[in-house]
Amino acid sequence: MEIRIEGLWKRFGDTVALRDINMRVNDGELMGILGPSGSGKTTLIRTIAGLVRPDKGRIFFNDRDVSDMPPEKRGVGMVFQNYALFPHMNVEDNIGFGLAVRGKKRDDIEKRVKELLNLVGLEGYEKRRIDELSGGEMQRVALARALAPGVDILLLDEPLAALDAKLRDSLKKEIRRIQRELGITAIYVTHDQREALSVSDRVAVMNKGRIEQIGTPDEVYFRPETEFVAKFVGEGNIIHGRFADGHIITPLGKIPANGISENEEVKILIRPENILFEPVENALKIRGKVVETESAGGEIYGRISFNGIELMFRRYAGEVNVKKGMDADVFIPYDRVFIIGRRKGDETERDR
Ligand SMILES: Nc1ncnc2c1ncn2[C@@H]1O[C@H](COP(=O)(O)OP(=O)(O)OP(=O)(O)O)[C@@H](O)[C@H]1O
Ligand SMILES: [Mg+2]
Repeated sequence: MEIRIEGLWKRFGDTVALRDINMRVNDGELMGILGPSGSGKTTLIRTIAGLVRPDKGRIFFNDRDVSDMPPEKRGVGMVFQNYALFPHMNVEDNIGFGLAVRGKKRDDIEKRVKELLNLVGLEGYEKRRIDELSGGEMQRVALARALAPGVDILLLDEPLAALDAKLRDSLKKEIRRIQRELGITAIYVTHDQREALSVSDRVAVMNKGRIEQIGTPDEVYFRPETEFVAKFVGEGNIIHGRFADGHIITPLGKIPANGISENEEVKILIRPENILFEPVENALKIRGKVVETESAGGEIYGRISFNGIELMFRRYAGEVNVKKGMDADVFIPYDRVFIIGRRKGDETERDR
């Protein structure tokens, strides 16, 4: 089922929660929605579910205008951060609830519940009480309940936010597997950029009710169209420069580039992992002072200062031997320097 959104606006009092949202989610695609708190993510998916009425704009499922359709007719399943299960009912009754309301026969419900419990990896959990489940198990039940009526679209609003890091990772992969297996279209809201980049086919980055960019995880990470996207999707060093004579002139040095008009000001993005401590060809070479280092989980994070600028770097521990206070030569390959807001074609060396 394809989802198409045209010119969606929603205002709550003085807050504009959605500003002219336009988006298409392809059949079977998992679209991540990434954005800071208050950027409109929940409002957007609640609008798609029919739980929020937009002020303006239309929503289509496969060319069918569903804008005026009540939520229960839309064939959409939802999973929320806080489980939203019925605590006084057991697992089976939670999953079967929507089916029972629709008047499905008891035998059919039991069969369907069994099928769903297999799908989410909770065989034999029918009679368990909700308060006997772990957070991860509750979210599996919530997922099964959302899928129970046989939906075409699954909307997930920070489904893993309440779980610990390790569980988040495994359950994220489970959700992805189930979504693929069923071939359903999904929208997955999160404010965690790693989660969004690893789970999604494409990601929409939201800021203040607007979509700043929609693209594959690589596109939003390596080719951010705005400074907001560059900063929000991963860590990065953003440096101002000016184009002159085939180069971007920056405080770090001259970087060969093309497709930019003479004297135009640009901002460049250097991801911390693209600052190298071993010599490479076609790279900026900088001798700077290491001002800070921190080791965490096999990686070294730090900052190196040069010409009044501090650059964040990240390397594997063992690969480099840097300590606070020392001078170090670093190399930044030209093809790892990204111009913010540029598309393929007007780029640094890499596209020549
Ligand atoms: N029912 C409502 N009444 C008034 N304001 C609302 C309502 N729902 C949302 N808002 C406001 O609209 C904006 C967007 O809210 P929304 O819940 O969509 O953000 P979000 O991106 O999901 O944030 P979070 O990451 O914190 O969940 C916020 O400023 C919020 O305060
Ligand atoms: Mg939200």
